[in-house]
Amino acid sequence: MSNTPTPHIAAKQGDFAKTVLMPGDPLRAKYIAETFLEDAVLVNNVRGVQGHTGTYKGKRVSVMASGMGMPSIGIYSYELFHFYDVDNIIRIGTAGAMHKDLKIRDVVIGMGACTDSNFASQFQLPGTYAPIASYELLRKAVDVVESMGTHYMVGNLLSGDVFYNDNERTTELWQKMGVLAIEMEAAALYMNAARCGKNALAICTISDSMVTGEATTAEERQSSFNDMVKIALEIA
Ligand code: HPA
Repeated sequence: MSNTPTPHIAAKQGDFAKTVLMPGDPLRAKYIAETFLEDAVLVNNVRGVQGHTGTYKGKRVSVMASGMGMPSIGIYSYELFHFYDVDNIIRIGTAGAMHKDLKIRDVVIGMGACTDSNFASQFQLPGTYAPIASYELLRKAVDVVESMGTHYMVGNLLSGDVFYNDNERTTELWQKMGVLAIEMEAAALYMNAARCGKNALAICTISDSMVTGEATTAEERQSSFNDMVKIALEIA
């Protein structure tokens, strides 16, 4: 395909596996490759957005950072799906709890992703699009998280465009609609996957709570991150 390398990814055709795990942070991508993958090779490093491909339990898997926010994951997921023949993208990230039953370190699997972003306007739909996860990936993730005994919830995420929101009522309004947790990427990923008939899932661990104001320590973040990586690698 003549579209590669892209402006944002310097890899060659075939450098990525069919499934790519996407943490937000490039250093997390490096950590996953070094800690969990065998024979990992660096396939991209444009802007320090590291992409690595290796194997996990004999399966070929890639990991590349998404950066923060919908414009960023929008670019990387589009290029991976359209130009690198990737079939599945699994976002692994942190989220802020909006639901009262979610505690720090719990896992939220995003069955859907509401958003306050304008990302969907490009599709010129005559209504409101409901971004959803791949049922196949979701079902497998639930099976794995059940077997791990980690507390989890499945439902709607809110992918927000604004981290420091001036409107203090925002949380309460989404809570009324049963939204579980806020992050900043899933909705764009789900829309890009839908538009090209591919599969996506967002698995998040709760790093802070909009309900209680609690936040994780660095150590807690690391160990819950490891749990999330294991779920994603098992379903890859
Ligand atoms: N807002 C948006 N994204 C997040 C948050 C949050 O509170 N916590 C973790 N990711």
